[in-house]
Amino acid sequence: MSKAAIHKLGVIGAGVMGQALIRGLMHKQIITLHNVWAAAKTESSCEQIRMELGIPCHTNYSQELADTDVILLCVKPNGIRNVLEKLNKLSVPPSTLIISIVAGATIEQIEDGLDSKNPVIRAMTNTPCLVGQAMTAVCLGTHAKPQHLTIAQQIFEAVGVCMELDEVHFDAVTGLSGSGPAYMYLIMEALADGGVRVGLPREAALRIVAQTLLGAAMMVQQSGRHPASLRDDVTTPAGCTIGALLTMEDGKIRSVLARAVEEATRIAGELGKPKT
Ligand SMILES: NC(=O)c1ccc[n+]([C@@H]2O[C@H](COP(=O)([O-])OP(=O)(O)OC[C@H]3O[C@@H](n4cnc5c(N)ncnc54)[C@H](OP(=O)(O)O)[C@@H]3O)[C@@H](O)[C@H]2O)c1
Repeated sequence: MSKAAIHKLGVIGAGVMGQALIRGLMHKQIITLHNVWAAAKTESSCEQIRMELGIPCHTNYSQELADTDVILLCVKPNGIRNVLEKLNKLSVPPSTLIISIVAGATIEQIEDGLDSKNPVIRAMTNTPCLVGQAMTAVCLGTHAKPQHLTIAQQIFEAVGVCMELDEVHFDAVTGLSGSGPAYMYLIMEALADGGVRVGLPREAALRIVAQTLLGAAMMVQQSGRHPASLRDDVTTPAGCTIGALLTMEDGKIRSVLARAVEEATRIAGELGKPKT
């Protein structure tokens, strides 16, 4: 992918996700200390960001907007309306690309909330962006062009994997990968408990589980084979793996995990709706 130049990036909502994205982009030298600014709601958060990241951070970013070509919106879902109203009041330049990672906020809501016809891209990412292993889906708004997609891909590929996907799938992506790390942590905790039950020190059990999960994920990614086929490779007749797998099936592990994603997807669909 050719490198699209970001002249100046503004991150509105520099909390957990916003800061992780800034760190990842700096690490990959896609931005420098000199062409990024951040905004938070409270002065205390701004102070912390200025100290830790060494970048400008303000509660009022009116001075910064004129030459900012990309804005990342990283506020909580209940904060996006305020931010869009503020961008209108401050007359955000109509060419500025607005990329939103706000769960539940649709392209239509963002475009309707803006007075100008800015290019808008919606993204759903996840917390492994902190370690450069995020899974991000992006979709383009009405006025977004291929060059805007290139910029979004550059941003999210700096912190992991990025795929373009129809917006109709965004609640599903939220339920599968936005919340997904939490499912993996729970599964890892349960497996480590199993290790402890059979006598492993907890620290060793957790280390073994984390590396096993990482290895299995890489086997799926790099072999291109179906997980069922890879699982068969490990499942010796009359062996211990088939015994463990049948125990998991007795506990309905497949339907429990699949239904969990279904439930998270349903809740994600509620996030963007106005509260009655
Ligand atoms: N966490 C996840 O796993 C995850 C995964 C995928 C997507 N997301 C999405 O990412 C977004 C951010 O999540 P997060 O976990 O990073 O939230 P967070 O840590 O609570 O950060 C939110 C940030 O927004 C700032 N903010 C609030 N109102 C603002 C305003 N009017 N102007 C400027 N800044 C404002 C807050 O400032 P103060 O600190 O001063 O209050 C804070 O820095 C959410 O929409 C979420 O749906 C999160």
